Amino acid sequence: MADKTFYIDEDVGQDTAEQTGADDVPYKSLGFAVFTQGEEHKFLTRKSLTGDIPEGLDESSRMEWKPVAKAAMKKAVNYAKAQQKKAAKEQELLAHRSKQEAERNKVLEEAKKIVIEEDKTLPEAVKIKLDDTDPKKVKLGKDDVKGTRVRVFGRVHRERKQKMNTFLTLKDGYGYMQVLLQGDLAKTYDILTLTRETSMEILGELKEVPEGAKAPNDRELHADYFKIHDGWKAAGGDDAITNRVSKDTEHATLLDLRHLTLRGETASKVMIVRDAVEYAFNQAYRELRLRKVSPPALVQTQVEGGATLFKLPYYNEDAYLTQSSQLYLETCLPSMGDVYCIEKSFRAEKSLTRRHLAEYTHIEAELDFITFPDLLDHLEQIMCRVIEITMEDPVVKQSILDLNPEFQMPERPFKRMRYSEAIDWLIEHNIPNEDGEPHKFGDDIAEAAERRMTDIINRPIFLTHFPVEIKAFYMQKDKEDPRTTESVDCLMPGVGEIVGGSMRMDNLEELMAAFAREKLDPAPYFWYTDQRKYGSSPHGGYGLGLERFLAWLCKQHTVRDCCLYPRYFGRCKP
Ligand code: 4AD
Repeated sequence: MADKTFYIDEDVGQDTAEQTGADDVPYKSLGFAVFTQGEEHKFLTRKSLTGDIPEGLDESSRMEWKPVAKAAMKKAVNYAKAQQKKAAKEQELLAHRSKQEAERNKVLEEAKKIVIEEDKTLPEAVKIKLDDTDPKKVKLGKDDVKGTRVRVFGRVHRERKQKMNTFLTLKDGYGYMQVLLQGDLAKTYDILTLTRETSMEILGELKEVPEGAKAPNDRELHADYFKIHDGWKAAGGDDAITNRVSKDTEHATLLDLRHLTLRGETASKVMIVRDAVEYAFNQAYRELRLRKVSPPALVQTQVEGGATLFKLPYYNEDAYLTQSSQLYLETCLPSMGDVYCIEKSFRAEKSLTRRHLAEYTHIEAELDFITFPDLLDHLEQIMCRVIEITMEDPVVKQSILDLNPEFQMPERPFKRMRYSEAIDWLIEHNIPNEDGEPHKFGDDIAEAAERRMTDIINRPIFLTHFPVEIKAFYMQKDKEDPRTTESVDCLMPGVGEIVGGSMRMDNLEELMAAFAREKLDPAPYFWYTDQRKYGSSPHGGYGLGLERFLAWLCKQHTVRDCCLYPRYFGRCKP
């Protein structure tokens, strides 16, 4: 019955539950009024304060309440019906959810009552790492053969719940293991509420996986007991690791949460390859009879120009963080023969490119009594040998292939290209310099141009004989073309420069002239220049950026993902 009147003011009305719809507290829309009060009433509407006054009316007509048009009423009724339907659905969903929650709570309460205990009559369990396949330690169970009972520790990488069973993939940094929890084990509170990254101790029998099924090392741990010790549970809900870092998380956030990102498959593979590569460099150098030394990180001389020096107070003096250990390596030649080091170098680069870090691992070597071609041959040999050694470990090899499926051993010999030829190549291919002009002799080939060239040529390149002006003061000049130096950059597809090296000036007067040319005071370098005073020699060396080498080998977009906790302009944490 239309016994009540409700008011709608399209300008000052409000569609809220507090509104009564009386003329002093009107609704804003007819739809809402019908939805809340029902369609059987009388509805009056007006535009009170704003909007153009229709022709033929004056200001007073604004304030008049008018009955609603038929069409508007029909629309409002439809709207109200749709809203009612929606509300009913929501109600239903809510009821369903709370029913589900109640059921789950009941199951969880029941689960709390299940207490599992280790069966002490079973054979003693052998503690193994997840990748241990040593047949002396572990036998796989088959239909008619009992497998070894093992004790493993690890974190939950994945879980898959079935009606009766739960499958887990456990990880421990060495490998992955599939675990099958059956019976009461799968019904415990701990398993029903299990979160990713939770640490577990699991005991059980190692068995072959059923035919056709896939699992790491083709085996499965049939658990007979497990324990999640105090404090071993990983956060769940909003705080669960999967809600904090995932494939879709922004790169900056991934770096903010690097400690969690490192647990992911990609990051851990890169770090495992990194360990292997660093080890391989040590082995390859040893094979070539280079000795390892450890030069200081705190220094008072520059190597690669003052612009990228980190300066710091050092007692009552100033010091810098080293840019390169090269000058120190040179001083070791007379006493130790060829030497190398794997140390941190620091560059106060203000660039945010994908291949610049403020702190990076610098693999540097220095070789005595050599020629420039010897240096290039050595570089090629060491890089290829390192890859060879790295790929000998099947787990590491698989990690590289997972990260970089198209990886192939570089073709030898590496392409050799003089700087002047590169300039011609860039002109021919219409790749401009930084000013947008065609390249000319003397230009520093910028990162973008260098990478385009390397990507098009698509194989390792030794770019040699850079002009004196764009290279460091210590580089030996080429006797045939003294405008240029006996210098080399090794360029790799996808990354660009990963190695910088040269023969070193071994003549004292020439070196002093170079200091003068660069307006560098030679006094603090007395220990370096003295090398030319006490038995000089033709020698040379290079520095290889480990993170850039890895970015190439593991096909990573940026060097930031190739070190543990990257440091670059604007980031010094975590
Ligand atoms: O070309 P660079 O500056 O050469 C030197 O430091 C020589 N003193 C090395 C030597 O002859 N012993 O650096 C060598 C390599 C580069 O090719 C690059 O791989 C890496 O070090 N590098 C960087 N890596 C990451 N971030 C940076 N800011 C880097 N600067 C150089």
